[in-house]
Amino acid sequence: MKRNKITIVGAGNVGAAAAQIAATMELGDIVLIDIVKGLAEGKALDIAEAAPVRLYDFNVQGTLDWAQTAASDIVIITSGLARRPGMSRDDLLAKNVQIVKQVSEKIAEYSPESFVIVVCNPLDAMVYTAAKVTGFPKNKVMGMAGALDSARFCSFLASELGVSVEDVKCVLMGGHGDDMVPLPRFTSVSGIPLTDLLGEDKIAELIERTRNGGIEIVNLLGTSAFYAPAAGAVKMAEAIIKDKKTVVSCCAYCDNEYGSGGHFVGVPAVLGKNGVEKIIELDLNKAEQAQFDQSLAHVKQLAAKVDELV
Ligand SMILES: NC(=O)c1ccc[n+]([C@@H]2O[C@H](COP(=O)([O-])OP(=O)(O)OC[C@H]3O[C@@H](n4cnc5c(N)ncnc54)[C@H](O)[C@@H]3O)[C@@H](O)[C@H]2O)c1
Repeated sequence: MKRNKITIVGAGNVGAAAAQIAATMELGDIVLIDIVKGLAEGKALDIAEAAPVRLYDFNVQGTLDWAQTAASDIVIITSGLARRPGMSRDDLLAKNVQIVKQVSEKIAEYSPESFVIVVCNPLDAMVYTAAKVTGFPKNKVMGMAGALDSARFCSFLASELGVSVEDVKCVLMGGHGDDMVPLPRFTSVSGIPLTDLLGEDKIAELIERTRNGGIEIVNLLGTSAFYAPAAGAVKMAEAIIKDKKTVVSCCAYCDNEYGSGGHFVGVPAVLGKNGVEKIIELDLNKAEQAQFDQSLAHVKQLAAKVDELV
């Protein structure tokens, strides 16, 4: 029986963390690729040398050579510049669009049947770039942001309420930016609506912290987060590989859903062996839809910039 093959493009902070998480979860053989000589090879070797301790039997290989990535089942794109203090995600567009374009051409050439999970920022615009350049079916190209933003919101809520993170479930929508749309009405603690457990002011405070969750880490580290983003990307890969039908907030192609009119944007979706198998359409109230529309308008502006560049 064939093993799954996962290529992770970019062996920097997010890419290496994703490789390590995927290896310990035994999701498949992993190829880490970067343009910096020695980087992917060194990190892959280090992860492979942990295998006898952590007891995983899959291959972890680092390379500069795209031929080694051939026939991957899943490709996770983490190659791109990360934010520094004072930068917005949008400031990365001009540089990262060129990197994602070049990488997407290679993916289409070497792994034409693969599913693509994009992590680079600005996220929604980079997913659009990868879909446009690969020409892959839209259910096979998606972006990781909602999994991270939801995880941040859930972790803040669990800590505030003094409950297990396992019990907190939430939905987050919109673009991956300061105008993301957390939805307290669709957030619960083991089935108990969040709004029964916390007051409006406290919820608003934690939503604000979630919106600023990225920059909070950038200001502490001088670069962007990587453990939680990597965990989010691997969760999406796992859902596809194991055909789990996981409901996860992610950047997915919406045709008419939420009135988005043919754009990649953050929505709750079911991920399984066919990639994005279904977009879940929540019955948003007027205020929630207005927030989503505002976020979508921003996503559309960035997609228009991609069209000028690619
Ligand atoms: N979606 C999210 O929620 C989220 C969260 C965190 C980071 N990010 C984004 O993920 C990206 C990676 O972040 P990071 O912290 O790992 O950055 P990093 O600088 O640590 O790593 C990026 C790596 O990509 C490599 N690279 C550049 N061009 C390449 C190419 N053409 N082919 C192969 N490799 C190439 C670089 O050499 C580098 O090693 C950034 O764009 C960042 O903004 C997104």
